[in-house]
Amino acid sequence: MCGIVGYVGSQKASTILLEGLKRLEYRGYDSAGLAVQQNGRLELARKVGRVENLVKEAAKHRFTGTTGICHTRWATHGGVTEANAHPHLSSDGKIALVHNGVIENYAAIKKFLLPKGYAFKSETDTEVLSNLIAYHYAKEPTIAGQSRFLESVRKALRHVEGTYGIAVLCLDCTGEIVAARKGSPLILGVGDKEYILASDVSALVSRTQNVVYLKDGEVVHVTPKQFFISTLDQEDVSPVVDQVTWTIDAAEMNGYAHFMEKEIFEQPAALENSMRGRFSEDGSTAKFGGLNLGPVDFRQIDRFVFLGCGTAWHSCLVAEHLIERFARVPVEVDYASEFRYRNAPLSGNPLFFVMSQSGETIDTLGALREAQRKGYKVLAVNNTVGSTIAREADGGIYQHVGPEIGVASTKAFTSQLLIGAMLALHVARMRDMSFADGVEFVSALKKAPDLVREALKQAGHIKAVAKRFSKYNDMLFLGRLSLFPIALEGALKLKEISYIHAEGYPAAEMKHGPIALINEQCPSVFFAPQGEIFNKVVSSMQEVKARKGLVIAIITEGCELPPGLADEVITIPDCHEAVLPIVATIPVQLLSYYIACERGCDVDKPRNLAKSVTVE
Ligand code: F6R
Repeated sequence: MCGIVGYVGSQKASTILLEGLKRLEYRGYDSAGLAVQQNGRLELARKVGRVENLVKEAAKHRFTGTTGICHTRWATHGGVTEANAHPHLSSDGKIALVHNGVIENYAAIKKFLLPKGYAFKSETDTEVLSNLIAYHYAKEPTIAGQSRFLESVRKALRHVEGTYGIAVLCLDCTGEIVAARKGSPLILGVGDKEYILASDVSALVSRTQNVVYLKDGEVVHVTPKQFFISTLDQEDVSPVVDQVTWTIDAAEMNGYAHFMEKEIFEQPAALENSMRGRFSEDGSTAKFGGLNLGPVDFRQIDRFVFLGCGTAWHSCLVAEHLIERFARVPVEVDYASEFRYRNAPLSGNPLFFVMSQSGETIDTLGALREAQRKGYKVLAVNNTVGSTIAREADGGIYQHVGPEIGVASTKAFTSQLLIGAMLALHVARMRDMSFADGVEFVSALKKAPDLVREALKQAGHIKAVAKRFSKYNDMLFLGRLSLFPIALEGALKLKEISYIHAEGYPAAEMKHGPIALINEQCPSVFFAPQGEIFNKVVSSMQEVKARKGLVIAIITEGCELPPGLADEVITIPDCHEAVLPIVATIPVQLLSYYIACERGCDVDKPRNLAKSVTVE
């Protein structure tokens, strides 16, 4: 949430900052601003609304300086106004700061600073921090061999409670940025005679593939010729320079109307990448390089606990179904945000998994830390190399689906479903699953990309269905067993990008309450795959029809519905139980996408949302 970019080099900073900021806009988009050092001043431009508004505003300023910072905001403290937009300048004009996170003790700091003459123009917690740094800068005597600027940032941060990723400019320190993190991501790009700081790799990958992932509690001091990393307690840190494995092309729209559309259609390739090299040579099981656990450890596990938020929590629910079904090991699923506070009793030898596309979701990170604090191992399924969750977990599985930029998760979700199925196989083969069943399972999983390609061919038909159903304001999504979580996901996708009220339910639960909602104005989307529950789902459809409800049926090939029962039918390929949730996701992603387009919604940047939720 909130995007930060900083630049130190020889090029015009504003051009590079705004280019980076556009790529970070998915992290927050209610206001944006930048500050550039030039002509002995810290020159600011800020604007409410999208980065595009800031670009127009910046053009009026004729920025020429080569050092600067910028920010795109997702409001926490203070409304969406220009005064609350970042950067925030200290009242003595010495310090400009951009911030991602929440300063929890801002009121106490403000109380401390007010009698000392510091003034505040915004309602934000961030302005308090810029003034606190200015306060330490003003009273800090120059220490030989140390930067007064660096030291004043360190001193201020030692008094801060909460989370931050910050980048700071100082009026007196031309060509320098000090940046620090605790709980919010920050990456330093090491370019050719230039440095780029960003809260996300996508903002800097067009200029360099060499990056240093800062850790919590670290501070980096960037000057035109070098950078220096230390801790808040002045301990030097040796930097590790990593290589980003994808190029800027992966973060382009490449002819699609939206990133969400592109990412939906990328799913066959994304699934191939998630499974590549992850099957045993005899083709009977899945293998993962980074779990740091052997078969003996796995055999001793008495329970899995899966934690995640939002869409990732839905993939945990599918993993629960598949692991319990095929490996016969009990699984618990919890919202990460609930787990971290509810102090749940745990069994003797559980293994934790956290699922997170971004690897920065603060609730998931909090849950991971809570489980580790209690002495448990936590593995992560995660799409972002170098993310905080990836680094703090005891092992894990990278998804390898490339950057996901649409705020609504799509390809990361189906990749998590695939990895959940592969985990079920991995554990099952260490327990009761036979070689032959393992071979059959592997061959089914390998078909997933082609089956998704097949399901995507329904796009034209689904677009027409979406046109017909785009005017409704309520919708139910109903599924059973492993498709109940897909019903939840379908409802979430629809509500977050089209603002239609939608609910997901186990189909049989409908008659225990939600049936009261059914009338001509509340359509229902049913998942009715071939198999033991097909007839039961058909009965639920009949109950809806009997109450004049409209039915969209998602069925697998070969199923036959009673004539007239469904108002629209979407057919997906028939497939193995482990692959079904993946294939069944495609029509509900497309339905939500096309309905949102039909309603004229901003699909990639839905209101009030932002990618990567780094505040509680
Ligand atoms: C919905 C969506 C969110 C995320 C959730 C967790 O489309 O994208 O619900 O799934 O915020 O995010 P990650 O997976 O990054 O931890």
